[in-house]
Amino acid sequence: MVGGRYWEDAPIVALQRGSGAFPDGFLWGTKTSAYQIEGSVDADGRGPSIWDTFSHQTGATRNGDTGDVACDHYRRLDDDLDLLARLGAGAYCFSIAWPRIQPTGTGPANESGLDFYRRLVDGLLRRSIVPVVTLYHWDLPQSLEDAGGWVSRDTVGRFAEYTRIVAEALGDTVSTWITLNEPWCSAWLGYATGEHAPGIRDHGKAAAATHHLLLAHGAALQVLRATIPSAQVGIGLNIQPIRPASDHDDDRAACRRVDGNLNRLYLDPLFKGRYPDDMLEHYSGHAPGFDVVAAGDLETISRPIDFLGVNFYSPTTVCAPTRRAEAQAAGFWIPEPDHRARVGDLNAVQVLRPEVSRTQMGWEIEPGALTEIMVRVHDEYATLPLYVTENGAAFDDYVGPDGEIRDAERIGYLDGHLRAVLDAVGAGVDVRGYFVWSVLDNFEWAHGYSKRFGLTWVDFPSGERIPKASFAWYQRTVRDNALEP
Ligand code: FCB
Repeated sequence: MVGGRYWEDAPIVALQRGSGAFPDGFLWGTKTSAYQIEGSVDADGRGPSIWDTFSHQTGATRNGDTGDVACDHYRRLDDDLDLLARLGAGAYCFSIAWPRIQPTGTGPANESGLDFYRRLVDGLLRRSIVPVVTLYHWDLPQSLEDAGGWVSRDTVGRFAEYTRIVAEALGDTVSTWITLNEPWCSAWLGYATGEHAPGIRDHGKAAAATHHLLLAHGAALQVLRATIPSAQVGIGLNIQPIRPASDHDDDRAACRRVDGNLNRLYLDPLFKGRYPDDMLEHYSGHAPGFDVVAAGDLETISRPIDFLGVNFYSPTTVCAPTRRAEAQAAGFWIPEPDHRARVGDLNAVQVLRPEVSRTQMGWEIEPGALTEIMVRVHDEYATLPLYVTENGAAFDDYVGPDGEIRDAERIGYLDGHLRAVLDAVGAGVDVRGYFVWSVLDNFEWAHGYSKRFGLTWVDFPSGERIPKASFAWYQRTVRDNALEP
């Protein structure tokens, strides 16, 4: 369907919506990340990452929670592999902890670190599950942060070196690679709002980090192409529709800024080989900002990728700070404190629609926004294959007296978003697969263990796993390659 025009494919929309059936070969999966599940942070020569340091700082995470033990996945690997086999999804996306491979972010490979991922990949393949590897899901070796982290251009070279080590070790067995997970979060939550590791609050540094992360993606892509010629390589972006609270020029301008920071700052360089002018201007007063861009960088960043990973949870609506009162009068709710994470320094305020249900994270539930963002990528950027590489929700799950976890809200959320995927397919978007975040409840970054996204309940700290109702629902969905009517 790639290259087709969506109106020509219109009848397929009706057909697929009716049947709830997914295209043949659609890849079903779940996703996790190393720091959120592994634990065993000192095992087998692993060095500290910025998340070890950050989570141990007072007040950095809810309840002082850390990933020291997390789901204890490192030690429970075989049981978790069996759980994945039981789920029946054909793919599993996990991330590699850079500090297990190079404890200080440089130098020779730590073979015992690599061995863990070799065992993981072999265990997946033995169970006929396709491994999808994320090279970087936020756990930078602390030594590299001490040398400047993503604000320093040197980190790009270090990442290329690390990529080569991993590609050489796993290239025979892994063919699908995601260079970076959500570089927006690494840059803006890590270096601008300070909500994530390394906890820095400096917009100029966040802008420079954005560029170095994207350049690291480009460098890793080249390494992967050279090391594993048949590799399928992509990047995972947390893109989403941004809407203005009203048609007023100021709200529309606020919307454009937030869209620029969250979406275009990543999509434009990757697919058009340039940063958006309005964003370059917006950050021009912040040093070092985009002054770090050197000749040739954008060519490296925009080299063609094989797929784009779309991580989607929720759309965002914003108003101009001067129009809070009007937004409130129009019925919007303004959370206090507002979600500065998304809109910090952009002269915009996030507003919520009271009539729209929200997850436990406070994120609005609007499945159609997933269709919208995928159609936008297809129409404005590229017709390349897309995977929904993250989608899921935290709710107030609990274990009932009978031992069951009846997470009907999660089933509703996932069902709605999968229908939105079918709508995108029907509109001509080449969506190849869908990964639920996540198979296990896990360490939800600054929220600690207070937010549960899993299809499986994890009893912290005993580590017991109890599949929730959504686990059985996803089992049926992937088995049938279709949603129930
Ligand atoms: C995404 C992250 C993932 C998880 C989900 C809920 O932004 O990539 O690690 O925290 O949100």
